[in-house]
Amino acid sequence: MLKGKHILLGVTGSIAAYKAAILVRALVKEGAEVKIIMTPLAKEFITPLTLATLAKSPILVDFFDPENGNWNSHVDLGLWADLYLIAPATANTMGKMAHAIADNLLITSYLSARCPVFLAPAMDLDMFMHPANTDNMELLRKRGVHFVDPGNGELASGLIGKGRMAEPEEIVAAIKDFFRQSSELKGKRILITTGPTFEAIDPVRFIGNHSSGKMGQAIALEIAKRGGMVELISGPVSLETTHPNINVTKVRSAAQMYEACVALFPDVDGAIMAAAVADFTPVSVETSKVKRGKENYTIELQPTQDIAAELGKMKREKQFLIGFALETTDEESNAQQKLKKKNLDFIVLNSLNDEGAGFQHDTNKITIIDRSGEKTAYELKPKTEVARDIIDRLINYSTKE
Ligand code: CTP
Repeated sequence: MLKGKHILLGVTGSIAAYKAAILVRALVKEGAEVKIIMTPLAKEFITPLTLATLAKSPILVDFFDPENGNWNSHVDLGLWADLYLIAPATANTMGKMAHAIADNLLITSYLSARCPVFLAPAMDLDMFMHPANTDNMELLRKRGVHFVDPGNGELASGLIGKGRMAEPEEIVAAIKDFFRQSSELKGKRILITTGPTFEAIDPVRFIGNHSSGKMGQAIALEIAKRGGMVELISGPVSLETTHPNINVTKVRSAAQMYEACVALFPDVDGAIMAAAVADFTPVSVETSKVKRGKENYTIELQPTQDIAAELGKMKREKQFLIGFALETTDEESNAQQKLKKKNLDFIVLNSLNDEGAGFQHDTNKITIIDRSGEKTAYELKPKTEVARDIIDRLINYSTKE
């Protein structure tokens, strides 16, 4: 799986740097070509000679060679790499990556790299859990950086807890999995709707809902990571997910979302409808702000277009359509009805009765129901992992069909 792959390995100043030697050996054994950048402090933990011998390539530390003035081009390194792995990654290095503090070759290469980036953090448990560190990791994760999470165990400080760098075999397995998965959706273009819609009442007010758009964004990122192209049609939420494979169209109202989806659907392989679209919209929008002082104020509403149902009608053979159902009562039978009515291939049910599921949360608990009535219930998980389950199911579904 790693034969001929160019792996750029960044080694930072942590006691876990000694494991970099085992890591390099494992990568080379898998057939990868390895180039190594060390931070100046990393050299205190493991000698460049050890790593250079195992990688069969000189170690890079400085921006230029002080002997002859040759530049070590971070741009060239970034372009050379098929994958940039930083192991061990300290809190210091992750903080610099998150905030573009480009004071060493490892960070400048990160900022120039266009390839996927993997981090294997290593630090003491309190440092690992500190909000300054967890916020930085979250920021990097949202920008598409991959993590091989540290394990629990005895730490160099003598404390016991999370922070121990993942074992080299785990890191190599994660990278191999990544290369396998990253081509799974190559050549596919998928439409995703996400977020709420806002239906204007007057120039300052609207009817909206609590959707944060997080589930749809997590799905978009998961598809992008597996090599697919995403057309993300987003209602008014702040988008924290960026990836070169994700093309975003921002809309506000259900009508705008409908127009965007109907225009794109003929050119995609399928669509995932994760948006919480308003079912009703004001019949007319006041042209100026509605003033107080009225006894009663009634807004007449009319139904919006059902986007999923419309795409269900347009759907050609080989195209897929996945919907969501957020229910509060009779969850399964309501979801089954929507599946049929909208001509979906499968529906992702989440119930507001489950704690931690649905709007605004970072977690979700889903059940997938397909056309044959087969149900799969999943545990409560972070939305990023829920997205993985949905896409795994989609890939399984398309290969079965
Ligand atoms: N949906 C849509 N367009 C709408 C309403 C819903 O595309 N105007 C999609 C949602 O994105 C979701 C699915 O249809 O994938 C089900 O949405 P939901 O709000 O649960 O169902 P509704 O059909 O609106 O029915 P109700 O609100 O009565 O439960």
